Amino acid sequence: MESGLDYWSAKALLDWQVELGATEAICDAPVDRYALADRAPKAKEAQKAAPPVVVKPADVDPVQVAQQMARAATGLPSLREALGAFEYCELKKGARNLVFSDGQAGARVMIIGDAPGRDEDREGRPFVGRTGVLLDKMLAAIGLSRGPDVYLTNVLPWRPPQNSGPLTAEIAMMRPFLQRHVELAKPDVLVLMGNASCEAVLGRRGITRLRGKWEQAWGKPVMPMLHPDDLLRQPQQKRQAWADLLELKAKLSPLN
Ligand code: URA
Repeated sequence: MESGLDYWSAKALLDWQVELGATEAICDAPVDRYALADRAPKAKEAQKAAPPVVVKPADVDPVQVAQQMARAATGLPSLREALGAFEYCELKKGARNLVFSDGQAGARVMIIGDAPGRDEDREGRPFVGRTGVLLDKMLAAIGLSRGPDVYLTNVLPWRPPQNSGPLTAEIAMMRPFLQRHVELAKPDVLVLMGNASCEAVLGRRGITRLRGKWEQAWGKPVMPMLHPDDLLRQPQQKRQAWADLLELKAKLSPLN
């Protein structure tokens, strides 16, 4: 090894960092911030190098801007573009990708998750990685697959830091885009996975109480369900998830 560390010492150091809460490797080599401070540009230099400041008028209501931009979108591509141009959600600055959707628009089922995690942020697609694999298995158990049968999105299109849940203010800000997304994708039913999507669509949280019962919102039948992440953490809840999946299957049957 170039650093002179043997494999086991390097692994022990890495494990120690993971235990302290490190979730991501940002650089190959550590940055000595004390050394950087000595080389900080003088005020004049910094002024010259500073990027142009984008001034956002203080009296602008981001929710109103979101409503106007969402309403103006006439199709899913223009909605995606509008999201990319929306500058009021701070999460955008820390995200690698805008996570818009996966599956086929026009599918009968539209699943709304909470927010992208690390894998989704990397790939720019919702529900990938371990969570996505479990979700695909759940759908397959009732004969559905993402694509022709299921279209997926999230309440937030950008990853919150450290996978923290979406804040109420962020949900309110991005809600107009979500509602327009549903209007344009035209599913028959909505499945809400997680508390943030219940808050965005139903105005209520409490997934363990809400799950498994049909609600009505945005002109559609809505089923709150346990999130695959919850099932990965608490596999004993799979029995309830199975009951909810059977409810969904029954709703989609031609007799209903
Ligand atoms: N959790 C979500 O709610 N959405 C994703 O896309 C991934 C994990």
